[in-house]
Amino acid sequence: MNAKLEKNVDFKSKKKIRAFDLINFKKNQKKITALTAYDYLTASLLDAAGIDIILIGDSLANVFLGLNNTFEIGMTEMLYHTRAVSSAVKQALIVTDMPFLSYQISLPEALINAANLIKAGANAVKLEGASDLTLGIIKKCHEIGIPVIGHLGYTPQACETIGRGRIQGKTEQEARQIFDQARSLEEAGAVGLVLEMIPAELAKQITKTLKIPTIGIGAGLECDGQVLVTPDVLGLTENNFKFTKKYINLAQDIKLAVRNYISDIHEQKFPTAENSF
Ligand code: KIV
Repeated sequence: MNAKLEKNVDFKSKKKIRAFDLINFKKNQKKITALTAYDYLTASLLDAAGIDIILIGDSLANVFLGLNNTFEIGMTEMLYHTRAVSSAVKQALIVTDMPFLSYQISLPEALINAANLIKAGANAVKLEGASDLTLGIIKKCHEIGIPVIGHLGYTPQACETIGRGRIQGKTEQEARQIFDQARSLEEAGAVGLVLEMIPAELAKQITKTLKIPTIGIGAGLECDGQVLVTPDVLGLTENNFKFTKKYINLAQDIKLAVRNYISDIHEQKFPTAENSF
């Protein structure tokens, strides 16, 4: 099956994806594929496999660094991991999350932080919510040439106020608010919109209404694209969220490989003469 897939998809001819390509993907009904990466190795594998967007998500905090919340990291960590990912990527659009408090204080601070992420190698930044300040940041970023992707629905940086892991937009009032916010983000100049953990019907309505593409995570099939957290997809985490899909169980394979290595050493089967000088 893998050989067949490689034959049918000409990954090598793919050009570098730019933020302005996203709207054409939507126009041409080409579904957008996105995954997270936080390091050089993973990013180079995802890029070689032909993913459209690599997101240096602030899920970096809990998934990669073992912290409790996404708001425990800041610009230092996001810049460091953006540099690592960007040195690996040739084709995918690189999007970096603006971390907690890097855009919630003031417009000038937000612009400097967004610009620094671009200087570190991101092609676009992503930020959560649709407050007046956020809309102003998106407008100004658009003017100065920094593409911004919005993020609505479940927004992890606000988990303490909206309820950790709680599906958003289930009531009519919440659904209307998310719908209106989505339109405001598009008007402000966002180039795309992540919709996280909202009812599929709401995501469908937003997707039909907006010209910019929606990228869903736990938001149903009708979004213009899908994003997942790579360690969940590869079976490296214990997470078993309803909205994710494990395509391989790498944790099991890695543990097996390491156990084999340990027993080889104990049994003096490694190194052999071939591995020795
Ligand atoms: O931080 C992240 O990985 C994200 C995705 C879940 C969309 O924002």
